[in-house]
Amino acid sequence: MKATAVACANQGLIKYWGKTDEALRVPSNPSISVCLAALTTRTTVEFSDRLEHDELTLDHRSSTDPRVFQHLDRIRELARSSQRARVVSENGFPPGVGFASSASGFAALTVAGAAAAGLDLTPSALSRLARLGSGSASRSVPGGFAELLAEDDTRSIAVRLAGPDDLDFRTLAVGVAETEKKVPSSAGMRITTRTSPFFPARLEYLVPALERMRAALRARNPVEVARLAEVDTLNMHATMLTSDPPLVYWSGATLEVIRAVLDARASGIAVYFSVDAGENVFVNGRASDVAAARERLRAVRGVSSLVESAPGGPARLDPQPLF
Ligand code: PMV
Repeated sequence: MKATAVACANQGLIKYWGKTDEALRVPSNPSISVCLAALTTRTTVEFSDRLEHDELTLDHRSSTDPRVFQHLDRIRELARSSQRARVVSENGFPPGVGFASSASGFAALTVAGAAAAGLDLTPSALSRLARLGSGSASRSVPGGFAELLAEDDTRSIAVRLAGPDDLDFRTLAVGVAETEKKVPSSAGMRITTRTSPFFPARLEYLVPALERMRAALRARNPVEVARLAEVDTLNMHATMLTSDPPLVYWSGATLEVIRAVLDARASGIAVYFSVDAGENVFVNGRASDVAAARERLRAVRGVSSLVESAPGGPARLDPQPLF
């Protein structure tokens, strides 16, 4: 059987950085994100008796990414199937540069793969399965503004806190990197949780920080959501910078964009920055403020792309296959 799904990337607003169980990707802390409607992955999966081995094509190139093959094994195990799969996946943005293509990628693979294997999973089961592929992918399953709980394996699922249209929220994804990030997030998380003296302090700070973010979402307050995401960015990067060896994900251009955001704010435009594990910067705020900051950010040295995005919806099956 063949199925196709489309999923959005997401941006951590209260970020996930650390696991209590690496194999099952159980996160150390709950995290909250917003899906990005403009950054999507489309994936078609076909399981068939005619295939002798799994085949993967990612952005028009043949790939042997073991994480994808492991994920197909998880789906086969649930479906009690031994059929091999053909997977074709296309990103609407460059992968591996800090715009979280693993989130949209594993969310789309999970939803398409489960359907192609004939599984009828609940949204919670789909979110859990996506988490096993990539932690942040679980949050792309419900879409909108979602919280990934940090419980045990079965209960660490993402739940929706607000719908994509509930807040006047916009993100400008400011690209400054065209290369893969230097330390993949799984390795980076391991280094930080084991060595940063600030990591225990982060876990303590997160309890009220999460509560403030949930309250800002309940109050439908986009400026407060954007502000709290900036506070959390600096908190998470403080744990990365104080890891041993240090994790410096930012480049000079990252800091130039951050400076431009601070300057925009000083001149009365309410925009805030947010950076995941990479060089690129998200700039968040109300639609009118993000529009007002756009040309200033385009002019910053080192900026190679600007994509404006509204909040996105859930990962969904789609009638248009890639093969
Ligand atoms: O994409 P993952 O599951 O490897 O985790 C990345 C985590 C951050 O992007 C750095 C933060 C977040 O919450 O998305």
